[in-house]
Amino acid sequence: MHGLCERIDETVGYIRSRWSREPRIGIICGTGLGKLIERMEPAETFTFEELPHFVPSTALGHAGKLICGKWHQTDVVALQGRLHFYEGYTLQEITFPVRVLHALGIDLLIITSASGGMHPQHHPGQIIVLDDHINLMGDNPLAGWNDDQLGPRYPDMSSPYDPPLIEKALDLARQQNISADRGVYVGVKGPNYETRAEYRFFRAIGGDVVGMSTVPETLVAIHAGMRVVGLSTVTNVCLPDALTPTSGQEVINVADSASRNVGVLIDGLIRHESKTMRGELFP
Ligand code: HPA
Repeated sequence: MHGLCERIDETVGYIRSRWSREPRIGIICGTGLGKLIERMEPAETFTFEELPHFVPSTALGHAGKLICGKWHQTDVVALQGRLHFYEGYTLQEITFPVRVLHALGIDLLIITSASGGMHPQHHPGQIIVLDDHINLMGDNPLAGWNDDQLGPRYPDMSSPYDPPLIEKALDLARQQNISADRGVYVGVKGPNYETRAEYRFFRAIGGDVVGMSTVPETLVAIHAGMRVVGLSTVTNVCLPDALTPTSGQEVINVADSASRNVGVLIDGLIRHESKTMRGELFP
């Protein structure tokens, strides 16, 4: 998209005029997971409305703030609330914040989300550490003109979620007695939850969880050369032969009660990363 670099620079300039640290880690808070940020010491907060070229968040359970601050002496930037394809925005618009995070210096993006669990052993509140995804959104944020300054025309997608950090997240969960598993995320446009036939289909093609986000942000982060960790909380169990109705409020409530555990994993990942950055551990 022509002019994208200029728009990114303008937003970065606006942020840097009030916060000039060099963050390496970014966090996207999914539905009902905005409370994660309570573990962070905020230094500066921007609303999506005030940030040049950001569009406002309209989704239930998404505040729409970009928060800069410290998490364990490590500079981080968090998006409290995210943008979704079903809000009517283009995938380029909803992934613009990821471009900005990268331009601020972030090379590790932790993406959280809520999702429907299709694996027979899933239960509400369980955390799925993503190890792959299937893009069924019917679009791609990387389609259209490619600016080679931002990333390659044909990015590799053989392991979009960072393998060592998948293992680290699963280890942390085991140590802390948090119920977690690895899985494949199916990304759909939404906004409706799925029919029984759709859940059956997504399971049959290799999906473990399904949700309305994450995939566009991951595609852009990989295009930009970042590492990605995906943590998705199962908020509703979607077994097609025993499906019960679900609602946006139920999804928010379950995500909210699991947010402590997601916070524990992010905490451990940030500690691990900051030690690696200081050279105390081999990556
Ligand atoms: N489907 C799609 N997105 C979701 C679901 C679901 O069942 N649960 C939470 N987000």
